[in-house]
Amino acid sequence: MDLSSVEKDIEKVLVTEEQIKVRISELAAELDQHYADKRPLLLGVLKGAVMVMADLSRAMQIPVEMDWMAISSYGSGTVSSGVVRILKDLDTDVIGRHVLIVEDIIDSGLTLSWLIANLEARGAASVKVVALLRKPDAAKVEVNVAWVGFDIPNEFVVGYGLDYAERYRTLKDVAVLSPAVYS
Ligand code: IMP
Ligand code: MG
Repeated sequence: MDLSSVEKDIEKVLVTEEQIKVRISELAAELDQHYADKRPLLLGVLKGAVMVMADLSRAMQIPVEMDWMAISSYGSGTVSSGVVRILKDLDTDVIGRHVLIVEDIIDSGLTLSWLIANLEARGAASVKVVALLRKPDAAKVEVNVAWVGFDIPNEFVVGYGLDYAERYRTLKDVAVLSPAVYS
């Protein structure tokens, strides 16, 4: 979906489609190098990571595998509590695997730190994280995100997989929603 189709709902564009494309290929090159002799398992967290996964995995040149989890964190709608429930588990056995978690955005990082601990407990050989976007609060938790696309301000963003009430996921850019949309 192009920006012009939802222009009235958008306050400003933070990251353009073109900027995302360039950054994704840089990240892919770094990942190719880091995992050169491995066959990493790319783990996407549904649903937000769908776009990053599709573009990043295709920009990489080394062979990778892909799997998905759906998890939900308890708590109120906007604040994540760190208490996590698995809605859809992996199909892949992660014992001895090099797992690369592919994330859309790191906010509090609570869900992610739970996920890393969970995968390590299952016997993964390594667990690393690549995230397209990172908000300032992510610095407060002990989550080591090895690769980050863009550091963004503490604003609610949509597009490129990120939604507000399941809308705007298919927008090609990452944008700040107009406050009018929430009220
Ligand atoms: P946290 O890092 O545990 O706080 O949770 C991060 C998750 O919350 C992300 O994977 C998104 O699904 C969602 N999220 C956080 N910030 C935003 C945002 O600005 N827009 C849309 N979803 C967000
Ligand atoms: Mg997510």
